[in-house]
Amino acid sequence: MLKKLKARWKVNSINLVLIIATFALGGSLCGYTGRKILLLTGLENEALWIVLYLLLITLLWPVCVLLISLPLGQFAFFKKYILKIRRRISPLAAVKGADLGEKKNNNDQVTQIAIFASGAGSNAEKIIQTCPGFLHNEKKTEEGTALKKYTVALIVCNKPGAGVLKIADNAGIPTLLIDKDRFFNGDSYVAELQKHKIEFIVLAGFLWKIPEPLIQAFPKKIINIHPALLPKFGGLGMYGHKVHEAVIAAKETESGISIHYVDELYDHGALIFQAKCPVDFRDTAETLAQKIHLLEHAHYPKVIAGILQNGC
Ligand code: GAR
Repeated sequence: MLKKLKARWKVNSINLVLIIATFALGGSLCGYTGRKILLLTGLENEALWIVLYLLLITLLWPVCVLLISLPLGQFAFFKKYILKIRRRISPLAAVKGADLGEKKNNNDQVTQIAIFASGAGSNAEKIIQTCPGFLHNEKKTEEGTALKKYTVALIVCNKPGAGVLKIADNAGIPTLLIDKDRFFNGDSYVAELQKHKIEFIVLAGFLWKIPEPLIQAFPKKIINIHPALLPKFGGLGMYGHKVHEAVIAAKETESGISIHYVDELYDHGALIFQAKCPVDFRDTAETLAQKIHLLEHAHYPKVIAGILQNGC
């Protein structure tokens, strides 16, 4: 049982003990504080007392646990844990609302996105920050209709230790580390993605080709970002700095980003959006990469939002 918990929470034995202690102390503090608050009200109705007590401890529990986690050095774990619970409860509430026939329209549904990434994850981070769950997403379109809600529900990665995994962890987003053989010769993780109710896939620095079963399972629902102006400087082996080095070697005076639908070929599907930046004679792959990242961060989240609003 303890072994299972250690593996599930990805912690060592000392942290596991401290986490269990935090749960116990946080729970006691929460129960004690809830009782003290209710005693102050002087309420005598037993049924009402129980209802209010349950409500109070539900609200107090995250605060108490976070407080106790600070001196025990477990704040990061519990922040992630509480965020996870919030994410689990939120979509459930939306589904329940739909079941009850409350406000049954498209705006009540939450589109679950998976980001496939294997690098530092700066694009994934920007996308997560722009749609950190559906709670924030209450803006209106120009016509006054509520925007559709969407959330990053899963980060898929093929590289253990990639920066994007830490970003996912900090945001409390589940991760899926994939295996090359299963991806290319097995079910390509289609069932796994369906289990997470994924409806849309965003590639952000994912360097493996997308296999056919996945493309067929998500027709016109997989997009990619490429750090150059396609159709130039794309294809097998063209990623990251290699692209920028090729652009500089070709003495191009401009480069940019391309966002496109994914098909069976590398960097090939229909273009959705491009943005340009100048390439100057002093540029190195490093400085060009910085310019390109700025463009990517400014545009990718907006393009994703646009596609999802217009009916994913
Ligand atoms: C991005 O610049 C993206 O365009 C590129 O990898 C980088 C990932 O950066 N993708 C490709 O080259 C795909 N052919 P990030 O991990 O910081 O988001």
